[in-house]
Amino acid sequence: MLLRHLSLTNFRNYVRLELDLAPGLSIVQGENAQGKSNLLEAIAYLATSRSPRAGSDAELVNWLVREEPYPYARLAAEVEKHQRVERLDITLLPARNNHRYRKQVRINGVNRRAIDLVGLMPVVLFRPEDVELVAGTPQQRRRYLDIALCQMEPPYCRALSEYNKTLSQRNALLRHLAEGGGDPVQELRFWNDKLAETGSLVMAKRQWFINRLEREASLRHLDLSGGFERLRLRYLPSFDPGIRPEPRQRRYPSTASLRERGVAYEALTPEQVRASFLAHLQAGLSRDLAAGMTLLGPHRDDLGFYLGEYNLRTYGSRGQQRTAALAARLAEVTIMTEAGGTAPILLMDDVMSELDATRRAMLVEALTSVPQAIVTTTDWEDFQTPLLEHATRLTVHAGQLTRLSAPVETA
Ligand SMILES: Nc1ncnc2c1ncn2[C@@H]1O[C@H](COP(=O)(O)OP(=O)(O)OP(=O)(O)O)[C@@H](O)[C@H]1O
Ligand SMILES: [Mg+2]
Repeated sequence: MLLRHLSLTNFRNYVRLELDLAPGLSIVQGENAQGKSNLLEAIAYLATSRSPRAGSDAELVNWLVREEPYPYARLAAEVEKHQRVERLDITLLPARNNHRYRKQVRINGVNRRAIDLVGLMPVVLFRPEDVELVAGTPQQRRRYLDIALCQMEPPYCRALSEYNKTLSQRNALLRHLAEGGGDPVQELRFWNDKLAETGSLVMAKRQWFINRLEREASLRHLDLSGGFERLRLRYLPSFDPGIRPEPRQRRYPSTASLRERGVAYEALTPEQVRASFLAHLQAGLSRDLAAGMTLLGPHRDDLGFYLGEYNLRTYGSRGQQRTAALAARLAEVTIMTEAGGTAPILLMDDVMSELDATRRAMLVEALTSVPQAIVTTTDWEDFQTPLLEHATRLTVHAGQLTRLSAPVETA
């Protein structure tokens, strides 16, 4: 799978871009604030239908056109797969007032849902902010899991989106019931079933992915750290899916200890999780009613990174956290390749400069092992001459890309 052509209109600082992309490695060099991250963001947006960094889609629309009567932004990709070309296309259009935008997604010219787009052009994006994967919030880690899994498994993505819808409906009903709006057990039965059905699929898949991720990431980690300590990754669900509370139990069993040490689960089946989730929902009814929201479920999941006994989030040095995050990204590439039968496009946003020689070498190995990689840098010297000679080289200045043909002068 190859990204052959990228078109951008009014996307961030790219007013107009038509870019042909070659197979192999492309390196985009630019000074600060010229459009390096924006370029990779655009590709990641087309791949996942969401921005890896923007809080809202409005941020993505070029701010000069936002004042125009009909502002819009458009991103389009031509993707080559088995000698066939697919066209992916997202237009951001103003919704009512110009502060919000809605997405219009087309695949080969036909209107589709955003969820149908995800997975057609799998990418793995490496960013300096990846350290947040280990050091950041559970929400950031769930997002990481979702983006990886959605690109690999369309059923996961559909279950997740159903789950989220059901969750907000159940929460609305909980608030209504708390105000005396009916018999909770009766009224919630349908929503509990639906939540457990979709949620169990999400949880079983996450657990599967984390187990896979641990195997691959711990290998990469040994190479990266040159150390002896094994990186452990643990699924940290908000309830123990291996346990069913007693029907009469009025409270959720405690998960504090579960979170502290991280339990390694063998393969969980959706059926197992579903039964446990349902039992936990029933046992936790009064707490949910008091809170006016659902307190347990995959929307409260976390992923733990451990070195030996220690959770790297709380005890890791910045360098250790960075290494673990890098190992996880590299592992993701392998898993995605196996799951999809085709390697993802690697995108790396200026990650070389902060790494030492060993880590750089591992990234270069990954970059040269996939059919296509697009990498940004402020400094050509981040790359060694043989690599530069084989790469397609571009420079970016104020949202304008230029292809270089002359050899790069490096010291
Ligand atoms: N919606 C927008 N409209 C126009 N320009 C924008 C918009 N959003 C961001 N920009 C600008 O685009 C420029 C390029 O941003 P980008 O993040 O791609 O820089 P970069 O080349 O990655 O720089 P750095 O090396 O500092 O990371 C910046 O000046 C930024 O302020
Ligand atoms: Mg940048």
